[in-house]
Amino acid sequence: MSQAGNTVKIFDTTLRDGEQSPGCSMTLRQKLKVAQALAELRVDIIEAGFPAASPGDFEAVQRIASEIEGPVICGLARCVEGDILACRDALAPAKRKRIHVFIATSPIHREHKLKMSKEAIIEQAVKGVKLARQYFDDVEFSAEDGIRTERDYLAEVFSAAVEAGASTLNVPDTVGYSVPSEMSDLFHYLRQHIRGVENVTLSVHCHDDLGMAVANSLSAVEAGARQVECTINGIGERAGNCSLEEVVMALKTRKDYFNLETGIETRKLYPTSRLVSDVTGAEVARNKAIVGDNAFAHEAGIHQHGMLQNPDTYEIMRPEDVGISRSSLVLGKHSGRHAFRERAEALGFDKLDDEAFEQGFQAFKKLADKKKEIFDSDIEAILMGIDESQPGTWSLASLQVHSACGTATRPTATVVLQHIDGHQVTEAATGDGPIDAVFKAIERATGISPTLSDFRVRSVSLGEDAQGQADVTAEYQGRFWRGRGLNTDIIAATTEAFLEMINRIIRTADTAQAQPQSKIDAL
Ligand code: KIV
Ligand code: ZN
Repeated sequence: MSQAGNTVKIFDTTLRDGEQSPGCSMTLRQKLKVAQALAELRVDIIEAGFPAASPGDFEAVQRIASEIEGPVICGLARCVEGDILACRDALAPAKRKRIHVFIATSPIHREHKLKMSKEAIIEQAVKGVKLARQYFDDVEFSAEDGIRTERDYLAEVFSAAVEAGASTLNVPDTVGYSVPSEMSDLFHYLRQHIRGVENVTLSVHCHDDLGMAVANSLSAVEAGARQVECTINGIGERAGNCSLEEVVMALKTRKDYFNLETGIETRKLYPTSRLVSDVTGAEVARNKAIVGDNAFAHEAGIHQHGMLQNPDTYEIMRPEDVGISRSSLVLGKHSGRHAFRERAEALGFDKLDDEAFEQGFQAFKKLADKKKEIFDSDIEAILMGIDESQPGTWSLASLQVHSACGTATRPTATVVLQHIDGHQVTEAATGDGPIDAVFKAIERATGISPTLSDFRVRSVSLGEDAQGQADVTAEYQGRFWRGRGLNTDIIAATTEAFLEMINRIIRTADTAQAQPQSKIDAL
């Protein structure tokens, strides 16, 4: 039986299995950005693509291989010469490289897809691995639909692959069919029946069709797998793949149980998740484990009270450990005095006397009844006595956007902003897209240039005249600011959101200058 060590390798396939799923495709530039983030996250292996699939895939693998350092860069290939040679060429610039060859082994794939006998499949697998070994020291072999393959035959195929030179054997649950106990049973079986298994790494690759990809992967790990194939945010074919952040945090949080480690820099999980969501447009569900907006939000007062006494009451992981700053967690109408006081103190209002605190808290409760989420800027506005119902410094007088898709002309925006003192400012700018052009024009007009960190548009009603809600978050002078706009025209909604955020920045700065600390304290 193989001697499994206590480190689990994280094989990230966001750029291959994730990217090939509908709605998740990325441009070359985006792939490079994600690959860089994966390297900073310290994944062990980046599966950068399937070079034989298209010239675009080839180029992406080649660029990642030449520009990204740290992880092993891997390319996928069927057990056929053309695919293997494409991988050889695309991965040539990589300092550390791996080829991942696969062939389907289950009866249903043998009979209906490949129309090949069991023997012919073994022969082709061996040929593929041997050819791959001519160009790569590191060869991974996958038995596609391994889960629905007869166990004894699967062990035979894997034994032949080891003999031909594979150093990693991957068991894919291609259709997300397995359950955890079956998975661990299979890995125990494979560890006993694959010839030469003690010299190779066993790997697991789960899809999430029945919502068990993470549980199945962890079961495989418990039974000896030492590589998990996964994707950021669990993106992938159909219901997706095993989610990297979930499997990594399960191993870290329950180290007492698994006694295993990964090399992942977990504080990069949240930023990487946001990056993948931004570039693919695939939103992360609010309640998604580890990286969802609500994953660390304790809305109920009783939970917040317990949390403030001792975070362990309701928190098994610290948000900081996955890269979420505690101050980014929103408060809401169920938040109690403790949570409000803690946030107020974190924002620098640590000298409030009882009366000022109580006044602020009552104003917060009133606002929370009207507004679902209360951000730091809202709390600051309350505590600084800023009346958010007053008109902002700048309002939009008119907006013109010109964007001609498919031409070389850069999108242009012209904004006319009305200042509260009556004067108007007109500014125009070009940008990478119409929204970028609008932001730049507003920045010029107001003289404030925040760094955008999040931007989302979603429909909040149905039909052709649906209202679009735009939310922007940006960093300015070390703080995060938010704005929201609602309009049937999404460019107008985005412009309103950006302007609301700029007005908040100005209001807070003006009030801070105009009001001495004693006035704030005397609220
Ligand atoms: O799901 C699957 O079977 C795959 C293989 C190519 C590993 O993605
Ligand atoms: Zn897959």
